[in-house]
Amino acid sequence: MIFKILRYEPQRDEHPHFQLYRHEPKPQDTVLEALKDIRDQQDPSLSFRYSCREAVCGSCSLVINGRIALACRTQVSDLGSGEVVIEPLPNLEILKDLIVDLKPFWEAYRRIEPFLQAQGDAPEAGHRVEEKDMERVFQYITCILCASCYSACPVATRDGRYAGPAALAKLYRFAVDPRDRRPFSALERVDGPDGVWGCDTVFRCNDVCPKDVRPADGIEGLRRKLIAGKWKRLIGRKP
Ligand code: FES
Repeated sequence: MIFKILRYEPQRDEHPHFQLYRHEPKPQDTVLEALKDIRDQQDPSLSFRYSCREAVCGSCSLVINGRIALACRTQVSDLGSGEVVIEPLPNLEILKDLIVDLKPFWEAYRRIEPFLQAQGDAPEAGHRVEEKDMERVFQYITCILCASCYSACPVATRDGRYAGPAALAKLYRFAVDPRDRRPFSALERVDGPDGVWGCDTVFRCNDVCPKDVRPADGIEGLRRKLIAGKWKRLIGRKP
């Protein structure tokens, strides 16, 4: 099989270019295993990220034959017998070959703080969360932060300040968590075009998520929470 892999080393190459490798993968090989074999047997300079090899760490997301997917979860045999084209994630700067700079993805995280903000010490037996509340947030818990949704998002393509689907969906996950005590003003950080109102609702984030999270649902949920909070404020109630 021919593997056509995008190569780029900003310090040396003028432009990204494709390099062809001939490689015969074993029948059950994933794209990640094929990449590792190509690197080990043909070209030690080929660079890509991976860690867990089991769709847990989120570090091996790539564009494979035009589709964003985890390399460790994509079997080469499912790609047909022709050429396999492998490219780095879009919307992010290439550091080397298939490795991209995730800085904008993590900066959005830092900015909007999508993690639990409980008040006071946790009770000794831990906080109890009712099953119905867990059901509401469960899909967001499975996010592995692979940045597939961010890379597929047309808003992130045109606006580098946009927080992106993963961070916004994770914020919703905590905004509806009964343990979270963040004030309404903290949600208002995403009440603008670089937050929830920037989303074009084209659902590409839902389509590409390897864990079947639907980030667009979370963005929609945050919009509803913001509108409800502002309405309460208008009628003199605490949002
Ligand atoms: S190597 Fe961890 S998700 Fe693929």
